[in-house]
Amino acid sequence: MLGLYDKIITLIKARKTAKITDPTEEEIKFTEIYDNHSWAGGEETRSGSGSTLNSTQNTVPLLQKFISDYRIRTLVDVGCGDGLWILKIIPLLKRYQGHDVVAELIEKNKIRAKERGLRGVSYSVLNPVHETPKKADAILFRDVAIHLPNELIIKSFSNFVASGSKYLITTNFPNEPETSKFYERLNGQVRIGKYRRVDYSKEPFLLPDPIFRIQDNEINPDGLMAGKHKNRELAVYRLDQIKDRVKELLDSLDG
Ligand SMILES: C[S@@+](CC[C@H](N)C(=O)[O-])C[C@H]1O[C@@H](n2cnc3c(N)ncnc32)[C@H](O)[C@@H]1O
Repeated sequence: MLGLYDKIITLIKARKTAKITDPTEEEIKFTEIYDNHSWAGGEETRSGSGSTLNSTQNTVPLLQKFISDYRIRTLVDVGCGDGLWILKIIPLLKRYQGHDVVAELIEKNKIRAKERGLRGVSYSVLNPVHETPKKADAILFRDVAIHLPNELIIKSFSNFVASGSKYLITTNFPNEPETSKFYERLNGQVRIGKYRRVDYSKEPFLLPDPIFRIQDNEINPDGLMAGKHKNRELAVYRLDQIKDRVKELLDSLDG
């Protein structure tokens, strides 16, 4: 029986195009979370409660509409996880590329795509902290940054800009109420794999306003927001609009 570290090394060696040869802390931590089923999601997904079909049922049509209105034909999904919900988005696209740091999850996603005969779909291990994804109309970064320290978010955003892609669609928590238990730690430091909320309009990010906001929450039949992520959204940024701020943030890391 291989230990976790040996298992990750074996998976990295199996990667033909790997630019990094040693497991990163992100790879080790998220593989451990995946192996141990540490996040809720039940039988359906190991990517957490936010990745179930139920919790994405209101988000899916809104994201579908955005994709159609903004003529998104190619999508790179970074930190794609293993959720079934994205299969409802894929048919709208010409090309879908899913990336994650967890190699086993990527292999399973490949098998699932093959079994379902999905065309224009590929999966591979990629970590945007260290690598630049391929150019696409949009990069989806849903429920990933909430588990990463600010420095790693900034490095990821810098690689998203470097990809030459047009839009970034990413989880954001605008207007977190001061009474919320998450308020104090909003944009605060977090250990890899742990959780805190992010609002990109606030320090240290101070990004310009998103060009579009997609509500990403469960909504009751009466229209009232439900669930624990009441103010969660997918904020859409034009990467050319945020690139100067991202560069400033990256430079501030070096200084
Ligand atoms: C909470 S899940 C969200 C999955 C999916 N985006 C969704 O919305 O259903 C977070 C996923 O991001 C992956 N992840 C975290 N940090 C990453 C990184 N630096 N590079 C690639 N994937 C990462 C984890 O392995 C996990 O599969």
